[in-house]
Amino acid sequence: MLAAILVTIQFVGPKPLNPVTQPRYEVQADPDVPPEITKLLERSCMDCHSNHTQWRWYSYVAPVSWYIHNHIEQGRKKMNFSEWSSRRDGAGRVVHSINDLEDLCDVVSKGTMPFRSYTLLHPNAVLSADEKKAVCDWTDKLESERPKN
Ligand code: HEC
Repeated sequence: MLAAILVTIQFVGPKPLNPVTQPRYEVQADPDVPPEITKLLERSCMDCHSNHTQWRWYSYVAPVSWYIHNHIEQGRKKMNFSEWSSRRDGAGRVVHSINDLEDLCDVVSKGTMPFRSYTLLHPNAVLSADEKKAVCDWTDKLESERPKN
């Protein structure tokens, strides 16, 4: 009975999907994001906050897949590094949202992101104290450079 249920649920629910992205919208297209910060975001955040999720085998197996899907959908909605560079000013420079910058430093320094059920399976995603500081130094710098309006 349980086996039958487990087989049946494999056919319902969302399928892993990475939407197509414009390269010029990616965080990598923003010269204000240094390569070491991009690497760190790729390592720690982009499975859930970009269109380049590395889908592991268990993300295809229901009901775990539903749980993971929900995280990725919510994560992309809150902050999507594949859309980071989509807002530009008249001169073509990426416009940074103050909320995004503040939230980024906030979640990283408090350790709320990446969350624990993820780092258990992806220990490499854990950020060191130095890396957390590097993120906040960088967001502080961008905040101070932002045109006041
Ligand atoms: C396993 C998936 C996953 C990973 C990895 C992950 N996040 Fe998230 N993130 C989420 C989900 C789901 C939400 C929305 C639910 C929530 O706010 O708790 C979220 C919310 C956020 C928010 C909005 C917070 C708020 O208060 O509204 C920010 C900012 C964020 N993440 C940044 C990051 C950063 C930066 C990293 C890497 C250091 C990261 N996340 C890693 C899944 C993830």
